[in-house]
Amino acid sequence: MKKIALTGIKPTGTLHIGNYVGAIKPALELSKDYDARYFIADYHALNTVRDPRELAANIRHVAAGWLAAGLDPERVIFYRQSAVPETFELSTMLMAFTAKGLMNRAHAYKAAAQENRNRGNDPDAGINMGLFTYPVLMAADILLFDSDVVPVGSDQAQHIEMAQDIARSVNFTYTAKTLKVPNALVRSEAAVVPGLDGRKMSKSYGNTIPLFAPEKELRALVMRIVTNSQPVSEPKEPETSQIYQLYRLFAAPEERDDLARRYLAGGMGWGDAKEELFHVMRRELSPLRERFEAVISDPNHVDDLLARGAAKARVIAKETLRRLRHAVGITAGGGGT
Ligand code: TRP
Repeated sequence: MKKIALTGIKPTGTLHIGNYVGAIKPALELSKDYDARYFIADYHALNTVRDPRELAANIRHVAAGWLAAGLDPERVIFYRQSAVPETFELSTMLMAFTAKGLMNRAHAYKAAAQENRNRGNDPDAGINMGLFTYPVLMAADILLFDSDVVPVGSDQAQHIEMAQDIARSVNFTYTAKTLKVPNALVRSEAAVVPGLDGRKMSKSYGNTIPLFAPEKELRALVMRIVTNSQPVSEPKEPETSQIYQLYRLFAAPEERDDLARRYLAGGMGWGDAKEELFHVMRRELSPLRERFEAVISDPNHVDDLLARGAAKARVIAKETLRRLRHAVGITAGGGGT
């Protein structure tokens, strides 16, 4: 039997090429060898996205984006977290096994509290329980599906460790087989995509290239990538150039070697390098954008695919929950499932 890979996608914004290269492509690659369960973590997004239209639009955008990028809903169980209510029951169960101290140590919560202190505010200002208990809901997402591996960025590694801790706490109380203890599959830092300013491409830095930017906008953004003031004639280091770092992600191996040679030979200016980058990006992203536009223009179809995914997911989720309820003794009366 194939192992199970599961990951959640938080719909807090629209997709950019950092998401595509860093998360979507590797997850789709992984889905060839694993039984994949990929879902839109919409309740995780609710902690921060409070405009209902924005949240609803993000959910559809992200779903359509993954489909456009090649997610095959026949092979991958693709669903919205909110459509699998078993998640929230499991989350409630897991609360009983989660030390408050464990949550106190979560990086995201600690950073938010520290930020408050730095500003002279109450440490809890603006921190809701959704943020504080975020790792419990995430553990429920993972443990509900007996996940073996969880592909994530390094910022999520601690959350997976917490899911392991919570699972072990349950297993210690009942039997070692009550929950499967998952493992993180942390993406290599090589998959970190530089943004327009050279820092990691991230929505919070405002340095992103939208994945489905129209060609004109794509070109304009590529032309805006920050460079140093080296003159055209000077040889250039591929490894330290973010244009080259981006180029590698979209170019064939021969193209990569060729551009590296041209960099090192001198005589190539940043403007030329940007044209080369635009060329390879457009080649890969234009068909993707066309598919995206086709998919997003039929939102009912997207909703329908997600609903079918949720139905498949719930068959598994109900079974896990039955096992758990039985393990903890919440079975009697009312014909508990
Ligand atoms: N917290 C993850 C992020 O911000 C999203 C997420 C929610 C997730 N539930 C998950 C990832 C379960 C992996 C497994 O990116």
